[in-house]
Amino acid sequence: MNANKWIRQIHRWLAIAFTVTVIVTFVALAQEDPIEWVSYVPLLPLFLLLFTGLYLFALPWTAKLRKR
Ligand code: HEM
Repeated sequence: MNANKWIRQIHRWLAIAFTVTVIVTFVALAQEDPIEWVSYVPLLPLFLLLFTGLYLFALPWTAKLRKR
C-alpha cells in the first residue's frame, strides 16, 4: 500500500516538474537563435510520468487480482 502512495506522490511532483520544463522550454525557444536541444528537456519528466502513470493505471486490476 505504501509503495502505491509513493508512486502517486512521485507522479504528482513529476507533473509539476514537467509543467515547469515546458514553460522554460517555451521561453528558451522564443529567444533569438535558440538552443535546439532545449526542446528535448521536457521529455525526461514526461518519460518518467509515463511509467509512474502506467503503474497507477494498472493499480485497480492488480488490486482485484490480489483480493482473489
Ligand atoms: C505520460 C503518460 C501518463 C499516464 C499514463 C498517466 C496516468 C495517470 C493515472 C492512471 C493516474 C491515476 C488516476 C486515478 O486513478 O486517480 C494519474 C494521475 C495524475 N496524473 Fe498522470 N499520467 C500521465 C501523464 C501525466 C502528465 C503529463 C501530467 C501533468 C503534467 C499528469 C498529471 C497527473 C496528476 C496531477 C495526477 C493526480 C495524482 C494524484 O492523485 O495525486 N499525468 N495519471
